[in-house]
Amino acid sequence: MHTIHELLTRLWDDYALLNLQVPAICQLIEQRGDTVVNDHIALRTYSDPRIGIDVLADSFVRLGYCVADDYEFPEKHLTARHYEHTDPKLPKVFISQLEIDAFSPVLGQLVNDLIDQVPTSLTKQSDFSVSGRPWQLSYQTYAQLASESEYAAWMSAFGFRANHFTILVNALTTFNDLQSLNNFLKDHGHALNTSGGEIKGSPQVWLEQSSTLADKVEVQFTDDLRMIPACYYEFARRYPKPDGRLFQGFVAKSADKIFESTDRR
Ligand code: NI
Repeated sequence: MHTIHELLTRLWDDYALLNLQVPAICQLIEQRGDTVVNDHIALRTYSDPRIGIDVLADSFVRLGYCVADDYEFPEKHLTARHYEHTDPKLPKVFISQLEIDAFSPVLGQLVNDLIDQVPTSLTKQSDFSVSGRPWQLSYQTYAQLASESEYAAWMSAFGFRANHFTILVNALTTFNDLQSLNNFLKDHGHALNTSGGEIKGSPQVWLEQSSTLADKVEVQFTDDLRMIPACYYEFARRYPKPDGRLFQGFVAKSADKIFESTDRR
């Protein structure tokens, strides 16, 4: 069994190795003398009971994480749940799943064919959440999934790993606000997701978020080698609620747009 620190480190190492923008951004921020603190990690899956949110969350729950809140994204047919650890210094874990029943029987069959390839033993492993893609698929299947859901396609190509980490802007000392961090990143050539505006949310909902656009990486399919969007980096500034404590939840309307950071462009 992993310790929670080992599991989080493996998720980070896999993420930073796959997405070169991630270590580049960390380095830019650290060169200013700042320290990067992670607000949350996001994972994705499909709603099938063999690999759904509860299955993916299991190793986190066994390592001290508890369910904190549930979310719905009707437009994208996603549901999500966020988990918090008893140690508040550990990042929150946000797990979403694509509601397969909301899509065509064709998508349902394609996704089922992928999940049929997942060994049950894998889903019981403590490192299931960082096991990568446990199935083979063609680029044709990826493209067919993408025609109904960008999320379905991303999940088919990348499998189980961090979809993004999130820098807690509150913990940065050399940026006054999220806008100045955004400007700094753009000045250094990092494109941001502008869907729904560059900054999603506001102090009124106690959370502001922005994110990069995912870089393309080479992915091997059974019939082709293709460059497709991988993961992005997210930035969150949290505000105190009326009781004076920092808001720790998520805002569905903002996250709805953040999901689009992995869309094909
Ligand atoms: Ni996020």
